[in-house]
Amino acid sequence: MERKNIHVLPEEIEKQREYIGIVKEASKGQIRKYHLSTFGCQMNEHDSEKLAGMLSNMGYIETDNTKEAHLIIYNTCCVRENAELKVYGHLGALKKLKSENPELVIAVCGCMMQQEEVVNHIKKTYRHVDLIFGTHNLHKFPELLFSVLDTNNTVIDIWNTEGRIAENVPVERKDGVKAWVTVMYGCNNYCSYCIVPYVRGRERSRLIVDIKNEVDILGANGFKEVTLLGQNVNSYGKDLQDNTTFAKLLYEINKVSGIERIRFMTSHPKDLSDDLIYAIRDLDKVCEHLHLPFQSGSTRILREMNRKYTKEEYLELVYKVKESIPRISLTTDIIVGFPGETKEDFEDTLDILKKVRFDSAYTFLYSKRTGTPASKMENQIYEEIKKERFEKLLEVQNSISKEINKEYLGKKVEILVEGISKTNDNIYTGRTRGNKIVNFEGNKDCIGEVVTVSIDEIRTWSLEGRILKNH
Ligand code: 5AD
Ligand code: SF4
Repeated sequence: MERKNIHVLPEEIEKQREYIGIVKEASKGQIRKYHLSTFGCQMNEHDSEKLAGMLSNMGYIETDNTKEAHLIIYNTCCVRENAELKVYGHLGALKKLKSENPELVIAVCGCMMQQEEVVNHIKKTYRHVDLIFGTHNLHKFPELLFSVLDTNNTVIDIWNTEGRIAENVPVERKDGVKAWVTVMYGCNNYCSYCIVPYVRGRERSRLIVDIKNEVDILGANGFKEVTLLGQNVNSYGKDLQDNTTFAKLLYEINKVSGIERIRFMTSHPKDLSDDLIYAIRDLDKVCEHLHLPFQSGSTRILREMNRKYTKEEYLELVYKVKESIPRISLTTDIIVGFPGETKEDFEDTLDILKKVRFDSAYTFLYSKRTGTPASKMENQIYEEIKKERFEKLLEVQNSISKEINKEYLGKKVEILVEGISKTNDNIYTGRTRGNKIVNFEGNKDCIGEVVTVSIDEIRTWSLEGRILKNH
């Protein structure tokens, strides 16, 4: 059953296509360049691919160099304070560039802009910013950009209500092998530290048919891997009221020809159903990797965080996953220094690390976000203590990651080759199904292929090896 009023109307998307044509026309053949910086998660990275898609249709080409750009755009993140501070730093530095080149258009968008106080601060302090828009009206970018170019006025357009799902927005993907596909927007969980539900709105799932169409096209265009994205991806379908589940979606995507690997993130432990565990186990294309944030090992802190599971429940869940899918590789997110976190609470976090033995963990210092319940909690933790705990966490996890990697020495692994490594032109890089990065000497013909590599050296974050054969 299709929900009413959930999609941006096709006429609206068509209108944006017209603006794309108008902006292109207005450039009169002159090449215009854009510089785009993205902060935050994969969802933001993927939103930036949509911005890039719209821009290239408007005749813009990308540049690394802000000095030669006609348009500079920041797609921002507000999950932690340091990401916000970086954006302010960049905006401050652009003041001089704008005064030297008044034609330059400076735009900011993304999660930060969904907070009223941020927009007010930018309006007041960074008057050289020309365009501000949010996460819910990304598809309207061509019209907004046209308005700035046409009137030379500052344009601010933030939608505070939840956006509708915009299908068929042009996308320019950076990679030719792997593609991100957003399957749902928003989050209903309201973890007490997290700003995401306030800036991304409530959960909205795309229809399976739309997702399948997108992945079909990716498969037909030579993409080999898709990562299905959602803030809380395994609650996919709950808002569709037709018994659609994330497991069902995986079954559909598994049928797409050309696609060889399917990944997804981020999963919430409370929504990890048996059906999903079996889907990972049974579907040949779904990779044996689960990103399952636990955030804290202390049941008391988990309650304060509104995570809806206890330490024991998390551990039981992980044991069930490991038993069902013996080759599963597990990764997680952890926050240290949540308000009121005691030494004992922190010991519980270390205990989960040691018991589960994650392949890797993303660890974050708790960052106070205005508007979230945790920001009003007493007993905020001193920075030095947070940092001390953070260091300890890294030390324990790094040694576990390295030990797990050691088990690969001398073994053969199947990897999907993604491209040339960032540091050396002869070295190619890819990932195992378990998401381990593997580097090896290769040639460009193997990009996009699944190859077997024999592992002969290990690092904390990656494996090094020799290619044995192409499949
Ligand atoms: N402070 C620190 N880390 C946070 N995260 C979310 N909100 C905060 C915050 N206020 C982390 C969580 C989440 C990841 C994407 O970011 O670990 O899983
Ligand atoms: Fe934030 Fe929790 Fe939603 Fe993740 S599940 S986006 S941490 S509120």
